[in-house]
Amino acid sequence: MADSLHRLDDGEARTARDLVAGLGLRDERPAGARPRVVADMIASADGRASVQGRSVALGHPADRALLRELRTGVDAILVGTGTMKAERYANLLDADQRAGRAAAGLPEHPTVVTVSRALELPVEVGLFSEPGRSILVYTESCAAAPEVGADVEVVRLAPGTLALPALLADLGARGVRGVLCEGGPTLLRELVVQGLLDDLLLTVAPWLIAGDAPTILEGAAELPEAGRLGLRDVHRAGDHLFLHYVPQRD
Ligand SMILES: NC(=O)c1ccc[n+]([C@@H]2O[C@H](COP(=O)([O-])OP(=O)(O)OC[C@H]3O[C@@H](n4cnc5c(N)ncnc54)[C@H](OP(=O)(O)O)[C@@H]3O)[C@@H](O)[C@H]2O)c1
Repeated sequence: MADSLHRLDDGEARTARDLVAGLGLRDERPAGARPRVVADMIASADGRASVQGRSVALGHPADRALLRELRTGVDAILVGTGTMKAERYANLLDADQRAGRAAAGLPEHPTVVTVSRALELPVEVGLFSEPGRSILVYTESCAAAPEVGADVEVVRLAPGTLALPALLADLGARGVRGVLCEGGPTLLRELVVQGLLDDLLLTVAPWLIAGDAPTILEGAAELPEAGRLGLRDVHRAGDHLFLHYVPQRD
């Protein structure tokens, strides 16, 4: 199958569903711990995270299948407003994935979580028109919540206190155990710099892009020192490589 993933060390073929099941994304967390944060990103062989402003040209059926299964396996999807707009967010899960969640006693859709200081949301993308979809927006703006078909809840934090640790603590208090961060590079860089990333699922796409598109981490925030990663697993599908890294903290 075009979307099978082949484990590099033993050649075993696995579906995206098998791979995600092995990650234990909704496993119980230690008391008081923030939710687990897993990022899924794709980059070209020269490290570029987009082509003409979108990531779609880098993709592969197995990569798309993996992203959708990761969404199926978490409580919440954390995504930047820039990514929702560029990637035209809509229809995030397939019908069988929604049915599987419901059968497991979960909401059919994971909550989509975003953060915008000015409460500037790309309400024109399809996600905001999907009835019954739960979207949680963290902001420090007093602007009115948008009137859209989706169910948008705005969490207003005091000016100067809108920070990712506070956001994750609030998600934890809401019972969220597993968060999938879908980027973009600006949001992910903040997570990394603040030590909030637990797993990086990085797909390396067999392209050289050149140009000046961002890498998977974009912005001004700096790490105090280079962040060492441990390699947990490697799969391939065609010429795409799927790397599972875990930040090493000691
Ligand atoms: N290759 C991949 O895997 C991949 C994945 C995702 C996206 N992308 C690409 O990345 C691009 C979009 O990403 P992006 O980096 O421009 O935008 P982004 O990370 O999706 O969103 C950034 C926005 O989030 C808001 N924000 C609020 N608090 C923040 C905080 N603490 N840290 C960071 N952001 C915060 C900001 O909006 P306010 O100013 O309103 O606060 C900011 O403009 C697109 O080209 C997309 O195709 C690639």
